[in-house]
Amino acid sequence: MAPSILAADFGVLAEEISSVAAATDWLHVDVMDGHFVPNLTVGPPVVASLRQHTQLFLDCHLMVTNPNDFLGAFAEGGADSVSVHVEVGETEQLCTEMRRLGLGVGLVVNPETPIENAWPFLELIDLLLVMSVHPGYGGQDFMAEAVPKVAAARERIDELGLPVTIQVDGGIDRKTAKVMAEAGARCFVAGSAVFREADHLGAVRAIHGAAAATLRASGSSG
Ligand code: DX5
Ligand code: ZN
Repeated sequence: MAPSILAADFGVLAEEISSVAAATDWLHVDVMDGHFVPNLTVGPPVVASLRQHTQLFLDCHLMVTNPNDFLGAFAEGGADSVSVHVEVGETEQLCTEMRRLGLGVGLVVNPETPIENAWPFLELIDLLLVMSVHPGYGGQDFMAEAVPKVAAARERIDELGLPVTIQVDGGIDRKTAKVMAEAGARCFVAGSAVFREADHLGAVRAIHGAAAATLRASGSSG
């Protein structure tokens, strides 16, 4: 699980994070630049503040046109992993730079982008994020078109025997987490389904439990 702080109350962010810490190892931080996506959120200073409040793995999803300008600042701020969109280009150079900075390396594929566009970079990355909504906003409906993309990625990664985790993001709740787990996802970003529920911790556990039960039933690990 990677609860997305986008749906949290930013006025009491540290409390919001503490409320889920017992049920997750990761926290998903959505960085938007008002250019790559039509919305603005947070940047490296907020990551640096979060780092003072939590030991959780900070998984930063960069929805920005010029990630190269900010990778150093995210590393410095204490990000654990950074994911860049394949649509911004210069992917190989970005992956090399993230690795050099000691960051986990993630690559993101938008709904309208063929999953095959990620294939040339699979050996360079740790995390492949398949978007199941158009990036930019929380609370959107899950796009079922993402399911076969996850399945194709699972097949390809397994064929090559690579240690790449498939992450999904957008409209993930108990029901869609099951579908995505079945297709091959192993890391589940959820914003609204966690922070818009009264019981944040219970919501994280429920989504995790649904995905884990699906994996157990299908005999998969991870
Ligand atoms: C959307 C972001 C997501 C967002 C998901 O651009 O990348 O991480 O927080 O929100 P929900 O879970 O509400 O769809
Ligand atoms: Zn995200």
